[in-house]
Amino acid sequence: MKLILIGPPGSGKGTVSERLTKDFKLMHISPGELLREEITKGTSLGTEVKQYMDRGELVPCCIVSEIVHLITLNHDNFLLDGYPRTLEQANLLEKTTEIDLVLSLDLSEETAVERISGRLTCEKCGFSYHLEYIPPKNAGICDQCSGKLIQRADQKPEIVKERFRVYKEQSLPLINHYQKKGLLRSIDASGTPPEVYALAKQAVEKD
Ligand code: AP5
Repeated sequence: MKLILIGPPGSGKGTVSERLTKDFKLMHISPGELLREEITKGTSLGTEVKQYMDRGELVPCCIVSEIVHLITLNHDNFLLDGYPRTLEQANLLEKTTEIDLVLSLDLSEETAVERISGRLTCEKCGFSYHLEYIPPKNAGICDQCSGKLIQRADQKPEIVKERFRVYKEQSLPLINHYQKKGLLRSIDASGTPPEVYALAKQAVEKD
């Protein structure tokens, strides 16, 4: 199965991906995570993309698409978390890959901002927590790998605002694009994590 997950920043893409990839044995491909890994490793690619990510902007299409296409070309079962984010990326992907389903997580900006402000991310494995809704068992420590929990650099309120502006301008047209192709399933992402996951699972099983 070839699955795409789209939704505004903080809508729970990463959280839903964690379980979907386990239950349906899909490879998790998150350009955001891959790029953050490059930044942590201090590679030249990391240095190049950091400036865009820190400003809340999209990284140039050719950089992200090259990374994603190298992976998708060699796999049949994957979940793309946060790719494509523009029509240009969608068109590039369609040249080499036939997508089965696109899940869209629908959430108001207000709730998404609240979720992002409480997010803690493991600096080692990237697992996402929330101070109130999905707290770790031990404060500041990842349940999965005992890594240190940190706040992401793009979590500052002014950067979050810019990420939303970019999402509305560049990513919202994708909803229409995939609707026209009959691939889109929209999910109400305002419930608890198990409620949202149940809706996502149902949508994948129906496909
Ligand atoms: P990326 O890392 O993909 O960030 P994003 O899309 O902005 O999304 P987030 O990771 O902030 O949120 P999420 O939807 O995954 O929600 P989460 O599960 O964490 O991208 C970062 C940057 O990389 C981009 O800005 C761009 O620069 C670059 N980039 C990435 N892809 C690119 C592309 N294709 N092209 C160009 N550039 C690209 O949940 C949020 C919080 O809520 C967490 O704390 C979580 O624990 C909590 N939570 C989740 N679900 C629930 C729930 N149901 N109830 C309560 N709390 C919940």
